[in-house]
Amino acid sequence: MAELMQGIKRTAYCGEVTEALAGQKVTVMGWVQRKREMGPFTFILLRDRTGIVQAVVDENSSADIIAKTKEIKGEYVLAIFGTVNLRTENNINKKMKTGKVEISADVIRILNESETPPFQIEESVNVSTELRLKYRYLDLRRPNVAKNLVLRHKTCQAVRNFLTEDGFIEIETPMLTKSTPEGARDYLVPSRVHPGNFYALPQSPQLFKQLLMVSGFDKYFQIVKCFRDEDLRADRQPEFTQIDMELSFVEAEDVMSLNERLIKRVFKEIKGIDLETPFIRMPWKEAMDRFGSDKPDIRFGMELQDITPLVKDTDFMVFKGAIEAGGSVRCIVAEGCGSLPRKKIDALVDVAKTYGAKGLAWINVQENGFKTTISKFFTEDQIKEIADYVGAKAGDLILICADKNKVVWDALGALRLDVAEKNGLLNNNEYKFLWVTEFPLFEYSEEEQRYVAMHHPFTSPMDEDLDKLETEPQNVRAKAYDMVLNGCELGGGSIRIHSRDVQNTMFKCLGFSEEDAQERFGFLLDAFKFGAPPHGGLAFGLDRMIMLMTGADSIRDVIAFPKVKDASCLLTDAPNIVDQKQLDELGLAINIKEE
Ligand code: AMO
Ligand code: AMP
Repeated sequence: MAELMQGIKRTAYCGEVTEALAGQKVTVMGWVQRKREMGPFTFILLRDRTGIVQAVVDENSSADIIAKTKEIKGEYVLAIFGTVNLRTENNINKKMKTGKVEISADVIRILNESETPPFQIEESVNVSTELRLKYRYLDLRRPNVAKNLVLRHKTCQAVRNFLTEDGFIEIETPMLTKSTPEGARDYLVPSRVHPGNFYALPQSPQLFKQLLMVSGFDKYFQIVKCFRDEDLRADRQPEFTQIDMELSFVEAEDVMSLNERLIKRVFKEIKGIDLETPFIRMPWKEAMDRFGSDKPDIRFGMELQDITPLVKDTDFMVFKGAIEAGGSVRCIVAEGCGSLPRKKIDALVDVAKTYGAKGLAWINVQENGFKTTISKFFTEDQIKEIADYVGAKAGDLILICADKNKVVWDALGALRLDVAEKNGLLNNNEYKFLWVTEFPLFEYSEEEQRYVAMHHPFTSPMDEDLDKLETEPQNVRAKAYDMVLNGCELGGGSIRIHSRDVQNTMFKCLGFSEEDAQERFGFLLDAFKFGAPPHGGLAFGLDRMIMLMTGADSIRDVIAFPKVKDASCLLTDAPNIVDQKQLDELGLAINIKEE
């Protein structure tokens, strides 16, 4: 039977009961991890979010306690009052932070009972993700999961302190708003008062933070939920959190150095790690050429190498065709992968294919010659020349891709990561930051048959490239920057356009008519008529930041109540159908064709 809390106060967290408290009386409260009966002794492991401590009841305990102990089961909620005693040498549990002591219980109160949980709540549970997320509140009882949320809290606190000290003001922006041009699909919310009209949940506070600059809040920040209806991955959730900021009267360098200082402070305070600043700044083109990625993982080498000049005179159609079409032939050297069985090499070819490559050639460098898929088209001397040029040694595998640059970068960039992971080159305790800068302003969308903004339509072109805006849009670089950590885009931002002329040219390049632009972003364009200051900003993905700081595999592990791959919440069963009455009020009818 559950008893009252009345009159007792917790004096310590379970995880804090160490030898420092030996001899003292404590009251701990928490959940029963396990109860073990051994002869005259009953051991109770009590858990709270900080850890686990052992309490012991023995034959000298009161009859009341001994009787009560019999009732106790896993996950019962207890208050235990007793004396902290040092364990004898051979009873010390080195695996537990509290393993040198145990609480000799004087009083136990059963504050609540519990049904048998659907899975054992242990540090490493061997149950499906589905079950864990359905009972996420139980999953979060595990101290190792709970500690991710504590680290998240501390990080937010450090960020708030840093930005506040620097003069930033935290301002909230609307959640029910008009869609912003961030590129993903919006989540829509129907309006009851305006039937047939919809709000969009913000993909980011982008336009509002720019409006705040017009208002004169020259240093704005917000830790804010953003919503994007995209396909989910390990580092993507439909709702996620940004550390969002915007500043007036700044240039790209100011935003970057401020954010380096912010990250340096967070890593020092939260992880005790001294990061070296400034971070490397790498132009986008260099990142693509060397790493095949705009978010390069620079913890290891295996850089892409361009062998176009070596093979430019070949008759091998695959290479020749790619070069003639303006593409290239590049490779990576997978160290020690020459001994891979054929099946594993084929798997690498498949990886390349998922990134659009039509194929992948390889050269297996052996002690006395080469084994290669392109022996029909190249002499042994030519193969040797390639191997020497790229610095491959016996035992290495050269992976070659020929195609349009984008395909070559994507395929080899992905292979580079794949091989690095398989070869154990990725150390999660190493933090390699860099800034990727000088992004192209536009990318060509085959789907829409026009240029689209790579970042968003308010990103400023680089001054040096302004005159190319209308003539060679593909060669215009943006004042945009991404902070990258270990191959993950941690945050990104840009200096914005504040001149109406440039903005109009930009819309023209994007194929928006004046009416289109006015219709979509009229409120921002209107605001810009009234003295918009030069401004720029950045947003970090907080979930990704915490994922990397905790070494979690997915941002799901650092979000209290995350969604799964199909964007549903297993705990609440959202999304689900609603009453006809609710639909009627909104003037909505469901029109879904049965599959
Ligand atoms: P961007 O779209 O690059 O920029 O987003 C900023 C950062 O947010 C994180 N992020 C995500 N995290 C989890 N799940 C998602 N679905 C997701 N999408 C993005 C990334 C990313 O770097 N308004 C601009 C910022 C600016 O220009 O100031 C913006 O939203 O870590
Ligand atoms: P194929 O003529 O298609 O049989 O290709 C012959 C060999 O060329 C294949 O075994 C691959 O090793 C290689 N190959 C095919 N497509 C590509 C490509 N896009 N890039 C590099 N190598 C390729």
